[in-house]
Amino acid sequence: MATALGYIESNKEQFKEELFDFLRIPSVSTDSSHKDDVKEAAKFLINKLESLDLDRVELFETEGNPIVYGELNTDESRPTVLVYGHYDVQPPDPEELWETPPFEPTVRDGDIYARGASDDKGQSFTHVKALEAYLKSGNDFPVNIKYIFEGEEEIGSPSLVPFIEEHKDLLDCDMVLISDTAMFAKDTPSITYGLRGLTYMEIELIGPNRDLHSGVYGGAVENPANALCEIIAKLKDENGVIQIPGFYDNVEKLSDKDREAYQKLPFDKEEYKEKLGLKALKGEKGYTTLERASARPTLDVNGLWSGYQGEGAKTVLPSKAGAKVSMRLVPNQDPKRIAKLFREYVESLADDAVTLTITEHHGGHPAITDLSFYGLQAAAEAFKEIYNKEPLFAREGGSIPIVADFQKVLGAQSILMGFGLNSDAIHSPNEKFSLKDFYRGIKTSAKFFELLPNYS
Ligand code: BES
Ligand code: MN
Ligand code: MN
Repeated sequence: MATALGYIESNKEQFKEELFDFLRIPSVSTDSSHKDDVKEAAKFLINKLESLDLDRVELFETEGNPIVYGELNTDESRPTVLVYGHYDVQPPDPEELWETPPFEPTVRDGDIYARGASDDKGQSFTHVKALEAYLKSGNDFPVNIKYIFEGEEEIGSPSLVPFIEEHKDLLDCDMVLISDTAMFAKDTPSITYGLRGLTYMEIELIGPNRDLHSGVYGGAVENPANALCEIIAKLKDENGVIQIPGFYDNVEKLSDKDREAYQKLPFDKEEYKEKLGLKALKGEKGYTTLERASARPTLDVNGLWSGYQGEGAKTVLPSKAGAKVSMRLVPNQDPKRIAKLFREYVESLADDAVTLTITEHHGGHPAITDLSFYGLQAAAEAFKEIYNKEPLFAREGGSIPIVADFQKVLGAQSILMGFGLNSDAIHSPNEKFSLKDFYRGIKTSAKFFELLPNYS
């Protein structure tokens, strides 16, 4: 009888073909014209789970996109792992910058290029294939497993949050396993133990009731574009410190121990700079690049618009200006409180010469996994056996808001077992995922399930 790892080795081509079928479905959750594609991606996963003959497979309809659920109970005395992933993807635009079409997966230099290859279809699919490897090779599966895949992660998980609250018993588990983060570097397995939270705001300023001639009216009428720039300039000072009163109130201070751990991570600042095409790095004074990018809160303009964008010069005083602003949060900042503070501060900066509207978009809480959690040791050992390297423990700057809800509602810690890379270009054109890491990911998952009972 083949081992689970042997089965993976012999079925690589098949696994790749199946992932490619998954990647061909343009399940863009932000775009309502892709509603049917999103449903099809859910159906794809349902079919995969059904083919494994589990104890239960179910598609839960929600007000938004469906939730895919599956479970296999092997033995009550064994740990239960809840695997979470998302089958929705970011929009592919700007599409003209893709070297090959975003929904026609292509392998180049050992990487799979497609929207969702890394975030999160390729990564999350590893855990389905790991279970298959046990079952189809006739081996006993070492733990109890539940799967939950949502189709709204990229839009803030509006349906999943109430779903887990209403299905606490169904989702009862000893831990959550997620592959939706990155390794610290190529061939450097890593376990992510911290994620940032998010508050996302939009500001709109309206001045005159129409665009005006900038010669005729300029100087006499407030220009919303100028006013917006003044507001934005007051959000941070020259040291990169956010100026919103109360913003840092609950921020957990980095301990000396945390900072030492950061120092030990193999980070090359020059290479980092060079890869991004930058001459210099800039950020909050008093912190290192890695700290700034994962342990400190941020405020960034994500989008900015106003006035004439076309060719040449058009003398115009715009009627409107707007900006989208994200704030990444760290423990113990509360996204709602930060939204309120942002609103109050921005309101205090605007005057009657413009009309200000502030909108809040979806956000999420930051999360930290307890480093003493036994599941992390099993994950570390699994990484070590498959990658022949001790994994690093690192915090990351991105957000997976549901992780905090799993902790709060289910009382479950998450194991963030990322197989992607920060250079995968997730959310950007030419997203990719290393084919080798897809296979190593399946093996690491299979290994983790094998080892976990020894640690619990
Ligand atoms: N998988 C990412 C989050 C991520 C990426 C974590 C890289 C760590 C490293 C996830 O799909 C994502 O994009 N999350 C959003 C938040 C959400 C509320 C839209 C994010 O971080 O912007
Ligand atoms: Mn993701
Ligand atoms: Mn994403």
